[in-house]
Amino acid sequence: MTAAIAQQQSGVDQAKIDLGKETFAHKCSHCHGPNMVNSGTITPDLRRFPDDEPRFVTTVKQGKNGRMPPWGDILNDDDIGALWAYISSRRTP
Ligand code: HEC
Repeated sequence: MTAAIAQQQSGVDQAKIDLGKETFAHKCSHCHGPNMVNSGTITPDLRRFPDDEPRFVTTVKQGKNGRMPPWGDILNDDDIGALWAYISSRRTP
């Protein structure tokens, strides 16, 4: 891969991450914490969510255990993809 293409791709990813960050701030941070920083007791620490995109998409669309609300009617696949890019960018092992 040439450097130009690599740069272009990382530019696209950064735009996605920024969009996901914004969506997270509006829709998710009041439960999951600003920038995903929380105690991990009431809501899981999303920085430690496994690298499992299908599970992420399913949870976000359908909710979980009546505690995590479903977003399938509110967020489209692009929004959820951007959220996933943002969460992946903040993953800590
Ligand atoms: C009303 C509070 C609330 C909001 C708003 C919220 N969540 Fe959650 N979320 C929770 C709770 C509570 C859980 C833990 C559910 C459980 O495991 O019982 C959770 C769990 C999760 C999980 C882990 C699911 C799994 O499979 O382990 C993910 C991923 C997640 N939320 C993403 C999001 C995203 C992305 C948003 C914004 C679109 C969001 N949440 C908004 C409360 C919330």
